[in-house]
Amino acid sequence: MEDLVYLNGHILPRSQARISPFDYGFLYGFGLFETMRAYSGRVFRLRQHLERLATSAHAVGLPLPNAQLESAVYQTLQANKLQDARVRLTISAGEGEPVPNPATCKEPTLFVTAARQSQVPESTYDAGCRALVPTLRQNSRSPLSRVKSTNYLLFLLARMEAQKSGFQEAIILNEAGNVAEGSISNVFVMKGGALLTPDLASGCLPGVTRSTVVELAPSLGLDVVEGPVALDELLKADEAFLTNSVLELAPLVGVGDQAIGSGRPGPTTRKLLKAYRELVAKETGEMRNDK
Ligand SMILES: Cc1ncc(COP(=O)(O)O)c(C=O)c1O
Repeated sequence: MEDLVYLNGHILPRSQARISPFDYGFLYGFGLFETMRAYSGRVFRLRQHLERLATSAHAVGLPLPNAQLESAVYQTLQANKLQDARVRLTISAGEGEPVPNPATCKEPTLFVTAARQSQVPESTYDAGCRALVPTLRQNSRSPLSRVKSTNYLLFLLARMEAQKSGFQEAIILNEAGNVAEGSISNVFVMKGGALLTPDLASGCLPGVTRSTVVELAPSLGLDVVEGPVALDELLKADEAFLTNSVLELAPLVGVGDQAIGSGRPGPTTRKLLKAYRELVAKETGEMRNDK
């Protein structure tokens, strides 16, 4: 059966979904999105995703659609009969005149898709990921930092550079040369019993998974330090891992040609991943057969 999508209040087959070429999301990248994960039919931390979306919309002056976003997400999951899924909600300023004047936009566009959550390959957790530090930089003072916008070219370029050389992720530095974030993830570093992660002033997205890990870490006896993280601190870490809503926590075992710690997924990463999955199961009622 063809996937069904939600577009501006209607559920329809993906092949019939159309938006105007005058949409400001297309013309100017004036849009925002959220990627979320559903477990057993429930989206983990949906409220937090929608709060981040609302904060970002306010920050960039993008009007939110009137539709109930939560209901649009669940309608899409239910229409596709999906329990475990990757859900993407996209909003844009909608159709306007092809001159850069958002005041000409009439109605925001709201688009939701859901795809079966094909399990992330186990090798991601067993062997870990390797990342490249691309040449481009994140500007921590840019209004596009900390916002998950459809203006995603910086991250795409970083991914393309990493993937061309056979790496799974790109670790993007900011203008000060400190770690900002991955192209689709936040970064955590374990050093001498402390868990470090770049603070939001470093330019990273306030990841929902990042904040869940920050919340969980003290229960495992870990002190979390949010602040500037120098590239050298990452390279000399005992362990490191990446977070996002789909990957959950993925060990980062190498950067460029350098191994992080033992070059194998570390014990604290495993413990935190287990605690994260237990929390997910508690909040979503998920029954996972791979635990
Ligand atoms: C640039 C960037 N940073 C961080 C993240 C992690 O965010 P979350 O944990 O909310 O999925 C993402 C998610 O895709 C991202 O695109």
